[in-house]
Amino acid sequence: MRCIDTVSKGDYVSKIGSFIRDFLAKTAVLLPNSFLNFVANSNLIIATFRVLHISKLCKVRSIGIHITNKCDLNCIYCYSERNGCKGLSNEKIHSLISEVRDNGIRKIAFLGGEPLLNPDIFSFINECYDKGITSYLYTNGVHIDEDVIAKLLNFKDKLVLVFNFDHPKTYAKHKLNDFYDQVYENIKRCKKKRFKIVLFVALTKLNFPFFEDILLIGKKLGVKVKVERYVPLNDAKVNNGLELSAEEWCFAQETYKKIYPRRYITNLIYKKVMKSNCVCYNEALFVMFNGDVLPCPYTTSDFRIGDVNHSPLKQIIKKYDVLKVEWNKIPKGCKGCEKADYCRGGCKTSRFLDHNSLEKKQDCCCK
Ligand SMILES: C[S@@+](CC[C@H](N)C(=O)[O-])C[C@H]1O[C@@H](n2cnc3c(N)ncnc32)[C@H](O)[C@@H]1O
Ligand code: SF4
Ligand code: SF4
Ligand code: SF4
Repeated sequence: MRCIDTVSKGDYVSKIGSFIRDFLAKTAVLLPNSFLNFVANSNLIIATFRVLHISKLCKVRSIGIHITNKCDLNCIYCYSERNGCKGLSNEKIHSLISEVRDNGIRKIAFLGGEPLLNPDIFSFINECYDKGITSYLYTNGVHIDEDVIAKLLNFKDKLVLVFNFDHPKTYAKHKLNDFYDQVYENIKRCKKKRFKIVLFVALTKLNFPFFEDILLIGKKLGVKVKVERYVPLNDAKVNNGLELSAEEWCFAQETYKKIYPRRYITNLIYKKVMKSNCVCYNEALFVMFNGDVLPCPYTTSDFRIGDVNHSPLKQIIKKYDVLKVEWNKIPKGCKGCEKADYCRGGCKTSRFLDHNSLEKKQDCCCK
C-alpha cells in the first residue's frame, strides 16, 4: 500500500519537473513525425525545453544499484564481474532506497548479475513503490515466470521490466544456453498483464547481422527497444570478436531510424535538450556491487566518485555535480561538428577505454 510521506522541498522541485516531462511525453504521442522533426531542428524550441528541463532543478534523476553479482547465464559481452566480493548487504540496499528518496530522486534501476537471484528484490521494489519511486528491473528474462509475475503485479504502475534481449540465432552463442523461447514466452506473459516493457539489446558483431530482425520482433511484440553498442571489456580477444566498426554502428543507427522513426526523433530531442548523448556522466549514478559509485556502469574505477559504504549519497551527488562539468567538455577534435553541442565527443566510457583520457573524441563516431 502506498504511504503518505512528508514532502520535502526537493520533492516539489522534482514533481514540477516530472509534470513538465510527462506533459511533453504525452503530447508528443499526438504529434505527427513532421512536427517532431521541426521541433528537433528548431534551436529556439530546444532552448526553451532546456530552460524547463528538470536537470536544471534536480540534478541526479536516476540511480542504478547492482544488487547481486550472481548470474546463471554467461553472456560473453557482460561487464558484470563474477568475483567473490562480499558486496552490498540487503540492509544497505534498503537504506540506500531511503537516501535516494531523501535526495528527491524518483528512479531506481536494479542491476547485477541477475537481480531476480537476490530473493529480497521484491521487498526492494515494494519499498520503492511505497516511496513513490519507479523501479526499473533489468533482467535476463529467464526467471519471470507466473509466480514472479504474480509477486510483481501489485507494483505494475511504478515498475518497468527491462529484458536483456537478442536474436534467437545469437542466443546460443552469447549466453552458452538456448533460452530464447523461454524469454520470449515470458515477455509475452508480461505484455498480457500490461507491464511496461523495454527490450535492451547489447549490439555486437555477432547479432549485428540480425539487428533489423531484432527490432522487428520488438515492434511485433509492441514494446520499446533500447540499444547499447557493445562496450569493450578488459579482454582484447573478446573485444576483437564483438566490437562494432564505425560503419556498422552508423548503419545500425540508420536501421533504428527506419524501424522506429518516432522514437529516433524523440530521442534526438531529448539528447539535444539534455546536451548529452546518454544519461551517464550527466544525470545518472551507478552503485556497483562493492559499493563504488560510478557515472556509467561500464566505466572503470578511474571515475569512482565515492563508496556508499563510507559516504552518504548526498555527498557523492555533490561531488558528481562538480566532476561532470569537466567530463562533459567538448573535445578539440569535434570542433565544427554540428552535433557537438549534444554529442560532446561521443561515449565517454569508450573514449576513456580507447585513449585513457577524455581529451579525444570517440573513434567510432557518425558525423
Ligand atoms: C549487466 S546486465 C544486468 C541485469 C541482467 N542480468 C540482464 O542481463 O539484463 C544489464 C544490461 O547490461 C548489458 N550489457 C552487459 N555488458 C555489456 C557490454 N559490455 N556492452 C553493452 N551492454 C552490456 C546487458 O545486455 C544487459 O541488458
Ligand atoms: S544475464 Fe545479465 S548479468 Fe548475466 S551474464 Fe548476461 S548480461 Fe551479464
Ligand atoms: S564524436 Fe563525432 S559526431 Fe560526436 S561531436 Fe565529435 S565529431 Fe561530432
Ligand atoms: S557513457 Fe557510453 S557506455 Fe555509458 S551508457 Fe553512455 S553510451 Fe553507454
